[in-house]
Amino acid sequence: VAAEKGHYRHFMEKEIFEGPRAIMDTLEGRIAPGHGRVMLSELTRLGPSPPEIVFVACGTSYHASLLGRQLIESLSDIPVRVEIASEFRYRPLRIRKGAWVVGVTQSGETADTLGALDHARREGYLTLAVTNVPGSSITREAEATLLTRAGPEIGVASTKAFVAQMTAVWLLALHLARRTGLREEEGSRRSLELLLRAPARLEGFLGAIDLAAIDRLAEKVASSRFVIFIGRGLDYPLAIEGALKLKEITYRPADGYPGGELKHGPIALIEPGVLVVAPLVDLDLAAKEWSNIREVEARGGTVVTIASPESSPVAPSYPLPPTDGWEGMFFATAVLQLLSYRTAVLMGNDVDQPRNLAKSVTVE
Ligand code: G6P
Repeated sequence: VAAEKGHYRHFMEKEIFEGPRAIMDTLEGRIAPGHGRVMLSELTRLGPSPPEIVFVACGTSYHASLLGRQLIESLSDIPVRVEIASEFRYRPLRIRKGAWVVGVTQSGETADTLGALDHARREGYLTLAVTNVPGSSITREAEATLLTRAGPEIGVASTKAFVAQMTAVWLLALHLARRTGLREEEGSRRSLELLLRAPARLEGFLGAIDLAAIDRLAEKVASSRFVIFIGRGLDYPLAIEGALKLKEITYRPADGYPGGELKHGPIALIEPGVLVVAPLVDLDLAAKEWSNIREVEARGGTVVTIASPESSPVAPSYPLPPTDGWEGMFFATAVLQLLSYRTAVLMGNDVDQPRNLAKSVTVE
């Protein structure tokens, strides 16, 4: 491989620290100069805003799509669905005429995502690829392509590519907000400001990261029997992505749930020795999530919270910088990625080449 690790021990670690650059490069040239408007010229050939959007994806890309749904639905009136590609591809398409089917895939080669897009294209739907690899198979399959620009990702567990996907779906939300006529013009403008300053803020955050504190949390993870990641709203995709990352490289038993769903089953698992990890960056739902956290504590579970001062009535386990919008998702993601990474290192695992996994799965 031509890529070098530099002073980092693993590609995964290096790629986590390349998050700010992934955001910056993905934004490059997509904000119309002087206008403060997002302009995705790649989408022109798809025509006017669609009556519906359906994301299809696998793994980490599915989690980025879930974030995409939330961002698009908050800034526009377009209904959004998110589907696991391998399930979607074998179902009859009950979606609105003119809908866009958006395949999100880092590699652009995932067989299930390609299959899902092919299924949609054959049924006459407009297809959009969101991919990190120019010239990949999906770019030939789809009508239009929006590139994420994370650069080559070597670690099997996706990190900076996820950050670039978060940026791309945020841009997509802003682009569609403009085209559907703004419900909340002011909210949109503020959101763009936050997105533009996100690379610098994430850079500052990572530059001051407290690795000793992350290691103390990693020890808790390594010594827990089971780890449940919970989150509501924006924090839900972050939580299930956190759980996926942990499974992928540490092989620890872990799962992710919407916080409000805990009481419908998973709470039966809570007892001493079980750890709950909760990112709290969705300011609208933080108070609700805290009540879920209290339920866990009352049953003897240990809780690790990752939160900014606005969303936390008590000192969190890992503090995030102040925020008043969606940028908190970048900070929480960095902490969750580092938490899995440091746990895997602590356990002596092969971080960049985890067992049984491939960087891209080109068979069904
Ligand atoms: C594999 C990788 C995952 C990835 C998924 C989807 O399972 O190990 O990290 O999220 O494929 O990959 P894609 O390239 O479609 O985003």
